[in-house]
Amino acid sequence: MNPKIIIAIDGYSSSGKSTIAKATAKHLGYKYIDSGSMYRAVTLYALRNKIIDKENLTVNEEKLKTRIDLIQINFIINNKLNRQEICLNGENVEDEIREMEVSNAVSFISKIKFVREKMVRIQQELGKEKGIVMDGRDIGTVVFPNAELKIFMNAKAEVRAERRFKELSEKGIDVSYADILKNVKSRDHIDETREESPLRKAADAIELDNSNMSETEQLNWILGLIEKMNKN
Ligand code: DC
Repeated sequence: MNPKIIIAIDGYSSSGKSTIAKATAKHLGYKYIDSGSMYRAVTLYALRNKIIDKENLTVNEEKLKTRIDLIQINFIINNKLNRQEICLNGENVEDEIREMEVSNAVSFISKIKFVREKMVRIQQELGKEKGIVMDGRDIGTVVFPNAELKIFMNAKAEVRAERRFKELSEKGIDVSYADILKNVKSRDHIDETREESPLRKAADAIELDNSNMSETEQLNWILGLIEKMNKN
C-alpha cells in the first residue's frame, strides 16, 4: 500500500477546489478539510456577537482578541451526506456559514494575524497523521509547506461566479449573479493583497485552470499525478 500523504489544494474562491478535494479524498479514503469553512465559522461568531459592524464591515479586533480562545472549532462526520461538517462551539453551522452575510464579511476576518495563527494550528493538528486533503489559500505555502502534493487552482472570475450562483440557487438561497460576481472579484483582490499569508502559488505547486474541465476530468488529472508520484 502506498504511504499516506498530504494533498494541499489552494486557489481563488469558487475555483472548484472543494469539489476536486472532496472527490480525491473519497477516492483515496482520506479525510477532507475545507479550511475556508473555519474562517467562515469565526466570521459567523463575530457577526453574532457584534464584533463586526454589519453596515460598514469594520471589525473590532480588540474585542475579537479577548474572545478568540472562547471560539472552538471542530468537525463531525455526517454519515448520511458523507461529509465533514463544521461545528462552532458545539453547534453545527455547516449551512449557515455559506450565507451571503458571512461571505461578504469573511475576508475582513481572515486577514487578521491572530485569527490565522489559531486556524493554522488547528489545521496542522488535523493533518498530523497525514491521509488528508485540505483546501484553502495558504495550505501549500504556510500550513503544510512540506505537503507531498500541492495543487494551485484557477478559473475565470465569471466562470467561478456562475458556479457559486448555481450552487446557492440550488440550495434555495436568493442572490443575484451580479452580486456574486462582485463578491468573487472583491474577495480575489483582498485575498491577493492582504499582508498576512496572501494567496500565492507555492513554488512547487502544480497549476490547474479548470475553466473548461469537467469534474471527472479534474479527478482523473489529479489521480494521474498521484500515480506518477507513487511510481517515482
Ligand atoms: O474558500 P472560501 O471562499 O470558503 O473561503 C472563505 C474565506 O476565507 C476567503 O475570503 C478566503 C479565506 N481563506 C483564507 O484566508 N485561508 C484559507 N486557508 C482558506 C480560506
